[in-house]
Amino acid sequence: MATRRSNTSGSHVPSFLFLALLFLASLLVAGAKGPVVDVKASCAKTDAPIFCTATLSAEPDSKTADARGLAEIAIKACARLGSTVGSYARRELDLVKDNPTWQCLDECAEDIEDALSHIDDAEGGIDDAKFDQVRQYLDLSEEDTWSCDESCRETPPSPVRTELLRKNQEFEKMMNVTRKLIKLVDVGAKPAPKPAILP
Ligand SMILES: *[C@@H]1O[C@H](CO)[C@@H](O)[C@H](O)[C@H]1NC(C)=O
Repeated sequence: MATRRSNTSGSHVPSFLFLALLFLASLLVAGAKGPVVDVKASCAKTDAPIFCTATLSAEPDSKTADARGLAEIAIKACARLGSTVGSYARRELDLVKDNPTWQCLDECAEDIEDALSHIDDAEGGIDDAKFDQVRQYLDLSEEDTWSCDESCRETPPSPVRTELLRKNQEFEKMMNVTRKLIKLVDVGAKPAPKPAILP
């Protein structure tokens, strides 16, 4: 009897180890990269497929990115674009003489700098907290009307105004693309994690 009992409890050791390994494996799976996504197919789901594909294909990392990776590449591209528009507005502010154009540039620059303060990953990588912050900002900015166009509505036409609004439009388009790519990550992450059935 005693022998049998110890045999039975002995057989728990391997099964415990097996469970522990399964648990470790599932942790690895959770932390691992998802499947590589196709840039064109992902961009097809955004409002601006051609612009999105052109912008993201130019980034070498996009070829091997999973959904989350692609969204991060979009966030970085968006921040770079915004920073270009912001710098343009600031530079022209120093040059313009007429008040309405100055006001249009100033308000747009402020809008853009506010957006950048949420989107830009100046400190380096995009961790989960940063990713959530960008997602929240972009969701909020979708409901809020982006006011750069509004600010410049009464501004007399000029090459500077035209160029500013064109650049701003691109930034807005990139924010829309990024918002959508972040949503695609959420959709992909929704189903319960796959059980770890590893060979
Ligand atoms: C971005 O999306 C908003 C809301 O969905 C839309 O009103 C706006 O026209 C879009 N902007 C661009 C530049 O595509």
